[in-house]
Amino acid sequence: MDIPDLYNNIYKKYKLKNSILSLNLDKWWRKKLVLELKKLNPSPKTICDIGTGTGDLIEILAKNFSNSKIKGIDANIKMLEIALENIKLKNVEFIKSDLTNMPFNDCSFDCITISFATRNVYFSKNFEKIIKEINRVLKKDGIFIGVEIINHNNKFLNFFSKLYINIVIFLINLIDPSSKLAYNFLKNSIFNFDLEGFKKIMIKNFGNITIKRIFPGNIIIHISKKLFDN
Ligand SMILES: C[S@@+](CC[C@H](N)C(=O)[O-])C[C@H]1O[C@@H](n2cnc3c(N)ncnc32)[C@H](O)[C@@H]1O
Repeated sequence: MDIPDLYNNIYKKYKLKNSILSLNLDKWWRKKLVLELKKLNPSPKTICDIGTGTGDLIEILAKNFSNSKIKGIDANIKMLEIALENIKLKNVEFIKSDLTNMPFNDCSFDCITISFATRNVYFSKNFEKIIKEINRVLKKDGIFIGVEIINHNNKFLNFFSKLYINIVIFLINLIDPSSKLAYNFLKNSIFNFDLEGFKKIMIKNFGNITIKRIFPGNIIIHISKKLFDN
């Protein structure tokens, strides 16, 4: 089963369960990404949100960059249908496509954003292909920025955060066994995400990456700039 297919069983309650798992902090984490992006480029003409899902990041992007043309791309049609239902804005367009082969010309976007889908990309069999594709569709000097949940780098905090994630996901799976595959992937991809391995591939393809840890310490914002033309 491809990773986007996992969301077929969880799309209906995806937003609610995110809020429960993150103690409602997920909204603030996405806002933080947008604030970071604003510092780097206050008025991008074109933005593409990849792995856009139900459009939670696009909503914030659209509020902050009302003059930008924004595209949201995802391979899961059910997630996109929710995004389409909730977000009806002239400057926002949703497209169903896999990230390995995006339907855009080279150098199309000033910014590419990703929220809570970096792990999806990292654990897909096409990880590096997708990173190359992101690089291809970015303009020179364009920014690739993402927010993601990973392990804490503090062992004590990591113990409690893992305990919390294990308990909540156990309960979610108990209440709705059909979501088991998706939430077990979520849990395992958080616990097994190799930040150093991720950085290595980003450096290989972009030549640079900045990682900022934000509250409560197991959330990262990763930023890379496209330094060279295609
Ligand atoms: C965890 S959700 C994140 C959704 C949203 N960005 C958010 O902040 O909640 C990950 C999304 O990435 C999409 N996705 C994962 N791998 C993908 C791929 N290879 N191509 C396109 N979409 C992908 C999934 O379908 C899913 O909707």
